[in-house]
Amino acid sequence: MIMDSSFAMKGGDGPTSYSQNSSFQGSISDQAKALLVKGIQQNIVLPTDPNGTMHRTFRIADLGCSVGPNTIACVQTIMEAVKAKYKAEGIQLETLEFQVFFNDQVSSDFNTLFQTFLQDRSYTVAGVPGSFHGKLFPKASMNVMHSSMALHWLSEVPKEVKRPESPAWNKGKITYSESAPEVIEAFSTQFQRDLEEFFRQRSLETVDNGLLIILMPCRPDGTRPSESLFIQGNECLLGHLLVDMAKEGLLDEALIDSFNLSVFVPTAAEVREVAAKIECLSVEVVEKICLPRSLGPVFQNPGHLSRLMRAVTEDIIAKHFGPAASDLIYSRLPKKIEERSLESPPPPCLGNIERFENLFMLLRKNAVSN
Ligand SMILES: C[S@@+](CC[C@H](N)C(=O)[O-])C[C@H]1O[C@@H](n2cnc3c(N)ncnc32)[C@H](O)[C@@H]1O
Repeated sequence: MIMDSSFAMKGGDGPTSYSQNSSFQGSISDQAKALLVKGIQQNIVLPTDPNGTMHRTFRIADLGCSVGPNTIACVQTIMEAVKAKYKAEGIQLETLEFQVFFNDQVSSDFNTLFQTFLQDRSYTVAGVPGSFHGKLFPKASMNVMHSSMALHWLSEVPKEVKRPESPAWNKGKITYSESAPEVIEAFSTQFQRDLEEFFRQRSLETVDNGLLIILMPCRPDGTRPSESLFIQGNECLLGHLLVDMAKEGLLDEALIDSFNLSVFVPTAAEVREVAAKIECLSVEVVEKICLPRSLGPVFQNPGHLSRLMRAVTEDIIAKHFGPAASDLIYSRLPKKIEERSLESPPPPCLGNIERFENLFMLLRKNAVSN
């Protein structure tokens, strides 16, 4: 099997789908909901024509939307917050129309997503397939762009970590959490490049005074990239499982050597630094969101945790290792999680749920004078 650079969360609404197994991401969005509402109401400037007439169409984009309850919930929160702002300014809402654009990778399950909207005609929807690391929309067309739990995905695995002759070759590992400094550097550089391009494109596509709002996993400021619990979790559960299976002769070692998850978890300061390179963007809100303790039982339940991990990684694993090997991998994942959780002490990624940090950032596109 070979790696396809485009991947998606598990589609449909079956028992292993992302739609049915995204409560982890959903609980982070729930934690961020109050910030999202307040951030929009305090920072949005309602769009007007040069003659002062309010625009009738308000455009929202959700980038890396996937499919499921989280996708719908966040755009509804944004629309409610915008409506409340119009109302507070005494502006008639009857003529206001929302147009919502859902973006994800081309292989994402847009069909299942769109079936959700068959009953709701209160706003119009459109799908925009393609990578958010490139151009997605016409210039100055979007009022609010939002992205939740998606920006840690890179545009590609850095090439040098896949090359055996490179000092950054990431042999036997699927992330950079237990790797050489050269590997970490390669992932970090790729992230900065991708994020800069993301910000650059969005700054072109957003109207003056429009907002860009991101929610993504992060690590505490001052920590090393390898200290991300999110990254450690993928290595010590999924990565170590793959190595065990290779030792048992169930997987080809060379396939593990050529496999890497294309993810990087930054600090808030690293994200700010990249944003500062785009002149017309200003960072207006930066907040950290920790996971609620109530999510602890999810992490202590191997079946539940393995379903969450499977919904996110199955497409990418099946493309690389093949569907049969992928089934075998996920049938063994709950046992691997259980074994690791019984270690004394368990790995930090299983023991310290409230130390998983997420970053909420709101940026404004400022008018550029010609
Ligand atoms: C973990 S899901 C989050 C989905 C949803 N926003 C939520 O909060 O539940 C991450 C999504 O980002 C998408 N994604 C990753 N890289 C992308 C890219 N370069 N362009 C567009 N979507 C991307 C994935 O396909 C996936 O659907």
